[in-house]
Amino acid sequence: MKRDWWKEAVVYQIYPRSFKDSNGDGIGDIPGIIEKLDYIKELGVDIIWLSPVYRSPNVDNGYDISDYKDIMEEFGTMEDMDELIYQMHKKGLKLMMDIVINHTSDEHEWFKRSCRGEEPYTDYYIWKKGKNGGPPNNWGSYFGGSAWEYCESRDAYYLHMYAKKQPDLNWENPKVREEVKKMMIWWLEKGVDGFRLDVINLIAKDQRFPDGEKKPGAPFGNMIPYTHNVPKVHKFLKELNRDVFSKYPIVTVGETLETTAEDGKKYAGFNEHELNMIFTFEHMNVDNGENSKWSDERFRLTKLKEIMNRWQTELQGIAWNSLYWNNHDQPRVVSRFGNDRDFWSRSAKMLGTCLHMMQGTPYIYQGEEIGMTNCSFENIQQYEDVESVTAFRQHTELMGEDPNYMMRCIRKKSRDNARTVMQWDAGPFGGFGTNGVWFALNPNYKQINVGSQVEDKDSILNYYKKLIQLRKKYPIIVYGDYESLFADSEKNFCYIRKYEREELLILCSFSESLQEISVPVRYQGRRGKILITNMTGETNMNMDQCQLSERTVLEPYEAKVILYEYL
Ligand code: NOJ
Repeated sequence: MKRDWWKEAVVYQIYPRSFKDSNGDGIGDIPGIIEKLDYIKELGVDIIWLSPVYRSPNVDNGYDISDYKDIMEEFGTMEDMDELIYQMHKKGLKLMMDIVINHTSDEHEWFKRSCRGEEPYTDYYIWKKGKNGGPPNNWGSYFGGSAWEYCESRDAYYLHMYAKKQPDLNWENPKVREEVKKMMIWWLEKGVDGFRLDVINLIAKDQRFPDGEKKPGAPFGNMIPYTHNVPKVHKFLKELNRDVFSKYPIVTVGETLETTAEDGKKYAGFNEHELNMIFTFEHMNVDNGENSKWSDERFRLTKLKEIMNRWQTELQGIAWNSLYWNNHDQPRVVSRFGNDRDFWSRSAKMLGTCLHMMQGTPYIYQGEEIGMTNCSFENIQQYEDVESVTAFRQHTELMGEDPNYMMRCIRKKSRDNARTVMQWDAGPFGGFGTNGVWFALNPNYKQINVGSQVEDKDSILNYYKKLIQLRKKYPIIVYGDYESLFADSEKNFCYIRKYEREELLILCSFSESLQEISVPVRYQGRRGKILITNMTGETNMNMDQCQLSERTVLEPYEAKVILYEYL
């Protein structure tokens, strides 16, 4: 397989609002990030993915951009941004900007002018006449309510797949595409090293705009078949690649909802000239309810493995995977797929191992490297996120769901779980700032924080550092082929990697009890080297010899990676 720097890299995601506050206003900011660059460098990662810092009225925490070429006041200035890029490059870190080009804020100049019917902006957004005194069709938006909003000055409705303050751009209009390209090139000329493209597989819409299927009891029709992965999206992406991405030595990752591995091969195929990789959500949907993400069910491991094994094997040699458990939209993985009480540290390390040993580029979300957990608030007033707040209202008021049940779902799945501030130390405000926090600090910050893990050789933080170092040392971790083991087990996630004359055996327990597993015949009695395990006090890299017999026992949440040479 062709070697590429972005295949060998590890990405660290920063959600700036919650990362580090430098000026005491309770909101994380760019100078705060600069203060922590040494910490990030020390972790060993190569790229920072920075969630949006552009000017924004903040209805969706920056994913509603009102000026692509300016910085949100609370986060700093363009000078701060330039300084960040400069300091990062000086330290050998690359910057991946989060860019939202499916929609803008309704406060963006383009939209204001479009509303007023000014040329050439009239068709920058998706405008349609109403039908039978209502919206043009029955689509529901992601953040509750209709996906259409009426605008008096145009006597028409505009489409918004997210909040009504996030109108969708009209990608059919070549002028829009040219504006977007110009703006991306402007950032590339500033020196950024790549883009994470927000909901990029939603940019093409089925131009017939038909009603969507309506499930019994649901207030709106399903827009997904007409707005996600519409074939024309590939034409738009190839054009972006041709005119922008291919001109710079950058990395691109697309956030793509509702994608199958088949789609993955198209968006991230080595010969497709679209994106380097995508974020699928299939594995993040394992604990969804029947009709939405709101459910209080725990995931089934066989389902999770089936999905991840499928992406690993189907993309192999054809396209590249991104690997993630967490981001600013997902609950904390140690609470979700691990055990954040009795096996907190061990299960966090196991989850890191299970993910980082797969084929793809690993992403770490701020706080994951210290095992930050979900927060659990009592009532909906304590939640901040537009999605949680509108979902609670829609499900209890419109759909008649039990508010107590809905609160249980919100506690488990709310995006706010990821948005409590970074836990730097056990001092006031968890070291996030000096004067309060914009949203919340998880009460467990005294036990879980960076300060207490830096010097502790056995900490989750130091374990993550080792995982990253291993990747730099062993090409098999990056390039090896993937083969799954024990697909039917509800207790363990095991697999093999193969590369040239080496093999890696990865054994991960997702169980709270001991379990015995059968060792594949070709490893029985053979001498291997334990590259990393979460079971020793001080993780010995490269040193522990290991010889498995026919059967071996895994401790609760144990993880072990064994290297076999010259098989
Ligand atoms: C996906 C982003 O990750 C999420 O935070 C945001 O709300 C939506 N896209 C809309 O931009």
